[in-house]
Amino acid sequence: MILVTGAAGKTGQAVVRSLVVQGAAVRAFVRTAEQATTLLALGAAEAVVGTFATADDLVRACTGAATIYHICPNMHPDELQIGRNLLTAAQQAGVARFVYHSVLHPQVEAMAHHWQKVRVEELLFQAGLAYTIVQPAAYMQNVLAAWPAVMSEGIYRVPYAAHTRLGMVDLADVAAAVTRLVLEPALDFGAYELAGSEVLTQDEVAAQMSAWAGRPVHCEVVERAEWAAAARLRGMNDYTVTTLLAMFEYYEQHGFWGSPFVLTHLLGREPTTFGEFLAREG
Ligand SMILES: NC(=O)c1ccc[n+]([C@@H]2O[C@H](COP(=O)([O-])OP(=O)(O)OC[C@H]3O[C@@H](n4cnc5c(N)ncnc54)[C@H](OP(=O)(O)O)[C@@H]3O)[C@@H](O)[C@H]2O)c1
Repeated sequence: MILVTGAAGKTGQAVVRSLVVQGAAVRAFVRTAEQATTLLALGAAEAVVGTFATADDLVRACTGAATIYHICPNMHPDELQIGRNLLTAAQQAGVARFVYHSVLHPQVEAMAHHWQKVRVEELLFQAGLAYTIVQPAAYMQNVLAAWPAVMSEGIYRVPYAAHTRLGMVDLADVAAAVTRLVLEPALDFGAYELAGSEVLTQDEVAAQMSAWAGRPVHCEVVERAEWAAAARLRGMNDYTVTTLLAMFEYYEQHGFWGSPFVLTHLLGREPTTFGEFLAREG
């Protein structure tokens, strides 16, 4: 049995779907009964309803699992503590393998969510379980949030300079690679960067959207203070706002991309391009 945490989220559902297609027995750890129903409909064999905040829930989720695929909720202020608690539960339950959904370049201290992840990776080295670390780049799927404005106004709004260079990865490719890493213990004890093969400026992203939509699409830069005020109005918590602002600033200063070599090797083909992604999702 493979326990997938954060199973109802964007990453979790993609990973569960991909594991199930390969015939794996998956137990989904979710927060609500409604999410449990969704995950069972996706093909999960079992669903456990609980919260990362409750040790008993974690032990209940881990008991009888041979492998854990741990996906921490996005931008969670307690990611390090959640990782520690889940590892403790895994040890108590006698789980043999722990695969961790980290991020590309977790070593970057300027981005708090990356820094928390690298500290969880460090715990894995010391926990006495077989481990694997998955380090995906930013997902292509993130641009879908901008889709309504792209389609209605022809504007792709980003909170960093238009020349910012990002290497995005298709979440479907990530899920396919993760499935190999979860199902093949011969790949244990590795840290795997999962990055796409293109590095695009935001102007180039808008140009590809334009080519796909058959109408002009322009990149428009939103001031970060303006972005933060709107995010707070929508109810985004302070940790998330602050962490995202630091991430946007880092992206603008340094760009963010990795090597596609490992993902290409795991998939046995070139990673999905942004154009192919648009053709599939648009
Ligand atoms: N987005 C990217 O480009 C990218 C790239 C690389 C790595 N990552 C990493 O991928 C991970 C997953 O991101 P995601 O966007 O897929 O996450 P997500 O959509 O936010 O999903 C997280 C899931 O965890 C659940 N959850 C939240 N708090 C919980 C709690 N206390 N106890 C139990 N469950 C809880 C959420 O439930 P509710 O729906 O009920 O809130 C949700 O179903 C993150 O760690 C992120 O850093 C993301």
